[in-house]
Formats: sequence, C-alpha cells, structure tokens
Amino acid sequence: MHYIKDLAQYSGEAVSLNGWVANKRSGKGIIFLLLRDGTGFAQCIISEQDVGEEIFTQAGQLTLESAVAITGKVVRDERQVGGYEIQASGLTVYQVAQDYPIAKKEHGVDFLMDHRHLWLRSKRQWAIMRVRNRIIYAIHTFFQDKGFVQMDAPIFTGNACEGTSTLFETDFYGDEAYLSQSGQLYGEAMAMAQGLIYTFGPTFRAEKSKTRRHLSEFWMIEPEMAFYDNDRNMDLIEAFIKYLVNDVMENCGEELQLIGRDTTVFEQINRPFPRLSYDQAVKIIRGEEDVNGVNTLTTLENDLESAKSQLEANKSEVNEREEKIKKGGMKKGEVKFNQNKINQLLAEEKVLEEQIRNIPQWIGSARNFEYGNDFGGSDETVLTRLFDVPVMVYNWPKDIKAFYMKEVDGNPALVKGVDMLAPEGFGEIVGGGERETSESILIEKIKAHDLPMEAFEWYLDLRRYGSVPHSGFGLGLERTVSWICGLHHVRESIPLPRMYGRLFP
Ligand code: 4AD
Ligand code: MG
Repeated sequence: MHYIKDLAQYSGEAVSLNGWVANKRSGKGIIFLLLRDGTGFAQCIISEQDVGEEIFTQAGQLTLESAVAITGKVVRDERQVGGYEIQASGLTVYQVAQDYPIAKKEHGVDFLMDHRHLWLRSKRQWAIMRVRNRIIYAIHTFFQDKGFVQMDAPIFTGNACEGTSTLFETDFYGDEAYLSQSGQLYGEAMAMAQGLIYTFGPTFRAEKSKTRRHLSEFWMIEPEMAFYDNDRNMDLIEAFIKYLVNDVMENCGEELQLIGRDTTVFEQINRPFPRLSYDQAVKIIRGEEDVNGVNTLTTLENDLESAKSQLEANKSEVNEREEKIKKGGMKKGEVKFNQNKINQLLAEEKVLEEQIRNIPQWIGSARNFEYGNDFGGSDETVLTRLFDVPVMVYNWPKDIKAFYMKEVDGNPALVKGVDMLAPEGFGEIVGGGERETSESILIEKIKAHDLPMEAFEWYLDLRRYGSVPHSGFGLGLERTVSWICGLHHVRESIPLPRMYGRLFP
C-alpha cells in the first residue's frame, strides 16, 4: 500500500493506492478519477485499453466518494497538483457511494455545517485541518524546545476563572461543577512546581454569542512562567507568534495556496510587534493620536470614499461589458472572457459594498469610544488597521479584566493584562498578563468579583507558600488557525465546531 504524498518517490514504478473518488470525468474509452487518500489528491487515468472491459465498466459506475483501491504506474505530469498521475492497471471497489450530498455546486453554510462530518473531506477543509495540525505541532515544539513542561488542567472545575457569566454548569456526583473556562489557575499551581509549564486543552464559554470569532468549545494553549513579569511575558508572546507563523509559512505553502490565503501579509512578521498601553490605544482609536503620521479615522474616511468611487467604476464597467455581449457579434472565447471579468467585478462589488456598510459604523463607534470600556470587534479592527503585524495592548482598566491580574504599580485602577490583536480584523488571539502575588489583594478582589471564597482557598495557598512574580497567557487555537488561514469564521478552523445553536454533527 502506498500514499499519494509519496508518489514522487515511485516515479515510473507501480503503486497501489486506497482512497475515495473526489471527482470523475469521462471521455470515449477513458475515465479520469481524482483520487484522494487523506494524504493528498492524485489524478488516475483509467483507459479501457489498459484495464479491459470489465474493470472499465466498473469504473464507469463509480460515484463521488465511492471507496476504491487503484493500482497503476506513476507518471510525471507537471500540470497535476502533486506533479504526478497514475495510469491505472487495476481497480477494486470497496463501496459505491449513493448520492453523496455535497456536490460541486455551491451549498449554503448551514447545509455544509449540517454535513460537517462529510464537509471535512472537501479540499479546502482538508487543507485547513492540515494547517491546524501543523500549528499544534509547532506549539509543542516551541515550548518543548524551551524546556516548558506540558501539564494538563482538569476540565471539571469547582471554581470560575474568567467570571461567572459564561460558565457551563454540570453535575459532579451531586455537586455543582463547571466546564473549564481556562486552565490558568491550575497552571499557576503547576508553574510553582515546575517553573515553566503549558497546558493545552479544551475550554468552554457559555455566552450565547453568534459572532464569527466565538466558539462554545475551543482549544487553548496556556503557558505559565514563574519569575516572569509582564514585559518578559510579552517577549515570549511575540517570539511564540513569530515562530508559529514562520513555521506554517515554511511547511504549509501548498495548503495555504489551496485555501487561497494571501500570504504576503505575513512578510513583515519578523518585525517588532508594537506594544501600546490601553491609554494610548484608546487615543489612537478615537483619532486623538496618529501612528507614524497616520490617523485612523482620516484613513477610514479616505478608504470609504475610495470604496465608493471604486464601486461606481466597477458598476459602469459591468454595464459596458454587458452591453457589448448583448450587442452580439463576439467570438465565443471573447464572450467567455467578458463574462469572467463581469463575475470578478461582481465579486469585488460585494467586498466594496461590505466596506461601505461597515466603515461608517466603525468610525462612529471609534469616535464615541468611552475610556474604560473593553474593545469591541470594530475597535480592534480600527486599531490594528494601522499595523501590518500584531499589536500588543497592555495595562488595562481593572474593571474589565479578571480578578487575578496584578495591579499596575502606583495606579491600582489599571492591571497588568495584555491582549495581542491580529491584523486584518482578526482581533484578539492572545489574552494574558502578570498575576497578583499578594494574598490580601486577592482576597479583596475575590470578594469584589462576588466569587465564593471557599472555592479559591487552594489558589490562595499559592500566595501563602513561596509567592513569586509570575505571568502567563492563553492563545486561542481556533482564532490562530483562522488568522493564519484567513478564514472568515472560526467554524471552519475546528473539526466539529460547538457553538450557540450547533451541537450536531
Ligand atoms: O482572553 P481569555 O479569556 O484569557 C484567559 O482565559 C486567560 N485565563 C488566559 C491566560 O492568561 N492563561 O482567552 C484567551 C484566548 C483569547 O485571546 C482567544 O484567542 C481565545 O482564548 N478565546 C476564544 N476562542 C474562541 N471562542 C471563544 N469563545 C473564545 N474565548 C477566548
Ligand atoms: Mg481576553
């Protein structure tokens, strides 16, 4: 048995492949099967002359997603995706699939989500999962090479971590328990034992949110470092993100191409990531401070104007081309060329129309942004538009951050949190900070956040016995996959998404 990914090693030789029919075209005495085996896609040519009448008839009856074994010779063909195709000599049918529901024609997202268990087989989804896998691999390599110890936090928890409003409650032998929102508090205990640790597990958030960045169940990587302050924390976040992006660029070029990701946006990734205090970020969002001579609100206004005039130009070009086609007298190829051009212009129009709808809202909420509030999706977009690398925002108002964050020296209204925001509107990918070390301040904070003190007794022990400065952060895996792959919605970044209104398949 061979795999498609290895075909280059067998050029000119006979191989036997197992897989599924991803596409089929037939001509006279010849059938082209696109076979996928999980490791890749390969065209198999079945010619009646080579395989005989019986096998050829069998091949003719194959439908989309039928399962087969194909033997044949590996032949170089540069036009093929992997550079090779198979000249079939034999075919065994495992099963002929009946009416595979996902056809080549466009399906709506709801239909695809209902068929996620099958949708995963499609080329684009296949490629996204490969990138996700590579990111996971790179996460482990990064931390393991630095001597971090992976430790696993429990999923059943007795205490909240990120506030009580977003907890999934469950029954633990008659006791109330929650599904973990974050492994962090346990990570802190582990860091006091091992120094440098990371957890990597599923996390649960119960808000009934339907935004494109929100999942009810997602995977989080949470390093925790004893003796790190928030500056070293930010150094680590920056090194980590650079490492992940560079690794994926090096190893997943083909997948990203399949997904259609414009990777030029990552060319600047090795430049320093700007670090802005919350105060400074707010000034930039409100247009009170420029970045390298550029004002957010002015650029947005300009972008709006140019989107409007571009839309006009597109519309008249579409009209012109349609008129020309209607007039007649064009060669077939010319009609097709114009039709393609029109489709391209119409697709652009959709994007422009979206901008024309969004930008005024962004400007409005940016102008009226109130100091002390958390950033909404549009504020994050407005802020990050000025940078081509991720931005780190630190020193946040304490009221919008979790109880465990350390107060800024001399300014107890602020805490040493840090969020990393990705460019292109992908928003917050990392959240973290330096942890409060004082037992008495923590006790106050637990009370102020209305959390049950008994549930945090064990956590307070960490401050009673060898309390040291320490920091950490959480990286959302799905938001990272979405950013690197350029996905519009996180639902495509996880094999089987769980979100508000979606428990199946
Ligand atoms: O900012 P968050 O809530 O931070 C924490 O949970 C900290 N305890 C982490 C730590 O310091 N150890 O979540 C961290 C990251 C976010 O930046 C985001 O990438 C992701 O987790 N995330 C979500 N991803 C998908 N769907 C959701 N509902 C998410 N909520 C957070
Ligand atoms: Mg956060």
